[in-house]
Amino acid sequence: MELSSNEATVLSWILKHYAGTRIEERSLKIPGLGVREIASAVSYLEKKGLIDSVYEQESTYELGPEGLRFLKEGLPEKRLIKLLENHSKIAIETVFKFMGEDGRIAITQLSQLGVKPNQGILVFPTDKIGVIGKEIDEREKILYRISEGSTPTEDEILKFRKRGTVLVERKTGTRLLSPTDRAGAEILSNSTEKIDTVTPELIASGKWKGSGFRKYDLNSPVERVEAGFVHPVSLLIQKVRAIFLEMGFTEMKGHYIEYSGWNMDALFIPQDHPARDMQDTFYLDSTSEFTFEHPEAMKIISKTHERGIPGYSGWGYKWNITESQKLLLRTHTTVSTIRYLYEHRDSPQAIFSVDKVFRHESVDWKHLAELHQIEGAVCSKNANISTLKWLIREFYERLGFSRIRFIPSYYPYTEPSLDTIAEINGQEVELGGSGVFRPEVTRPLGIRDPVIAWGLGLERLAMLYYGLDDIRKIYQSDIEWLRTFKVRV
Ligand code: PHE
Repeated sequence: MELSSNEATVLSWILKHYAGTRIEERSLKIPGLGVREIASAVSYLEKKGLIDSVYEQESTYELGPEGLRFLKEGLPEKRLIKLLENHSKIAIETVFKFMGEDGRIAITQLSQLGVKPNQGILVFPTDKIGVIGKEIDEREKILYRISEGSTPTEDEILKFRKRGTVLVERKTGTRLLSPTDRAGAEILSNSTEKIDTVTPELIASGKWKGSGFRKYDLNSPVERVEAGFVHPVSLLIQKVRAIFLEMGFTEMKGHYIEYSGWNMDALFIPQDHPARDMQDTFYLDSTSEFTFEHPEAMKIISKTHERGIPGYSGWGYKWNITESQKLLLRTHTTVSTIRYLYEHRDSPQAIFSVDKVFRHESVDWKHLAELHQIEGAVCSKNANISTLKWLIREFYERLGFSRIRFIPSYYPYTEPSLDTIAEINGQEVELGGSGVFRPEVTRPLGIRDPVIAWGLGLERLAMLYYGLDDIRKIYQSDIEWLRTFKVRV
């Protein structure tokens, strides 16, 4: 077995000083080793089975504030006896006047010793003074001895029970150590000095030649370092971004505040669609000061809503410009996708973002009102529903999840549409939506090739990734979880 040089030093010291009775850990005084180093070596030696230890609780006593004062001024009962000796009898009011609070203590103590006031008068106990004097002297001697560091006996402690802060108790623990049977042999086999730190001098001088090196035990436990590190959500975002960047996607950025026109109309969401309701969406108060970006696009979009495009009938209602100018907190990042595609009409191209969205949702174990979406789209002649399924599967697989499922779904802007499902808490939970953009979305904006797109929930993915049964835990700042969460891949 390998011993570090500190372990070897501590074990040799224990073997040398052990004479059949256990050695107190705190009595280990080893030149060159501090208390912490000794404690750490002792723990390792114990784990390696070379020493045994038992833990003992101990009480030590010292004088409290009253004890220290009585040691200086004399015990109150002693001072009262002296007064009585001089005056032979005293009224208790006079005792209080002379001695204050100590007078009360003195009277209680003397009563317990058999000197009780009679009709408010205390009389010097001539017949009992021998015994009482001895007892009080004894008490003062005990206080003196404790102040000098000696340990009081049980009886001595009892004498000061219920006497405030005359004595204070301190509980301390100590480890008692003894070497095990294997210790001696182990020290012998470790007796040749081994190098445990390689220094430039050691190499330059060539002294390392011929001596042994101590092996490292990679499994030995080390103290946890509580350093700051990346929040689990940020960490997952980094991983997700890395996956799309490695696959050659371009990252896009959008804004929290959006026009309904881009968030909804551009995606062929009719103006009376329930998702536009205040129940689901956070709207801003102001509208008018802003003019719509790309007004030319909005004109085309409005026509598509009202009359459709060749081969597609549209929604057939009267489109309202004011509705499209309303400002809202974006409800999905698909708004970034459609604007990006309009501004960059290239094909083929692949884009993505990981960004925050806002929904007027009631929060529960799988819903948040503020969450991140992993958005993406591919525009290409060859993009189709199979490419889409492959891409989403590939994405989850790169994070270590192969058990996802697709089910048919509906979005006003995609056809066909698919939802991705995974099992969380024994239930099928929706991870996100996807589909092929409808011609009503792409063609009016001049996007010729098919576009496949998806928007996946990051926090639901985090539930899978970190094994959480409640989505709210992600943002609860539970310090223990933040310190110990495990990364899957
Ligand atoms: N935007 C949808 C949502 O927020 C997801 C989606 C994105 C669906 C792209 C289809 C295409 O749930």
